[in-house]
Amino acid sequence: MTQLSVHADPEAASRAAADLLAALIAEAQTARGVAHVALAGGNTPRRTYELLGPLLANAADIEWWFGDERCVPADDPDSNFRLITETLLRTPAIPADRVHRIRGELDPNDAADRYAAELRCTAPLDDNGVPRLDVAFLGLGEDGHTASLFPGDRALEICDRLAVPVVAAKPPPDRITLTLPVLQAARATVILATGAGKRDAVARVLAGPDPATPASLLDASSLTLILDQAAVPTS
Ligand code: 6PG
Repeated sequence: MTQLSVHADPEAASRAAADLLAALIAEAQTARGVAHVALAGGNTPRRTYELLGPLLANAADIEWWFGDERCVPADDPDSNFRLITETLLRTPAIPADRVHRIRGELDPNDAADRYAAELRCTAPLDDNGVPRLDVAFLGLGEDGHTASLFPGDRALEICDRLAVPVVAAKPPPDRITLTLPVLQAARATVILATGAGKRDAVARVLAGPDPATPASLLDASSLTLILDQAAVPTS
């Protein structure tokens, strides 16, 4: 059952997300010595990343991954990697070699395969041979997309690759995304969504699995939705 965590405003929701991520990371480190965390892109998580660094008790024992990346250079304003270099990675204790960037400047297929290979040989695998992240931190698009899995995209049906290139409905169009099997295998999934614009997508996630709303295909039993009041469905 999806857990709801509702907060007064975006600042409070961002703080709640940072607190939850820090707790899930600490839990993974206690259990397995290291935490594997996939990070969300877009605008919403910026404040969470600003808050998260100082909350990390063992900042060196975390492998950082990305749910998706835009096919742009690492220093491009649209880069999700650049987003964390401006925020989370200001924490000096985070080793650069434990941040696994998706190389958006490369050919998308090559970048996806390179990232998938790095993930497969670094993260623990579940019984199906799928890398098992401890935490998948994700955003939610107004159309119900998450990572770069968009409604109607064939990427939603791909089960034999860990990461794939897509042409997205949200600019910039060329992206690389983790596939559903990887996101569904995560021990914990956290979506942070704020603002009235996300209300309808939140309602569709809560309504149950529907390929028209990719975020609704995540494993509801391990999903926490962190919302501000504005993003709470009205009906
Ligand atoms: C991306 C994200 C994407 C994002 C949603 C919400 O790279 O764009 O992975 O899934 O989380 O589109 O974006 P905002 O936080 O900007 O609303």
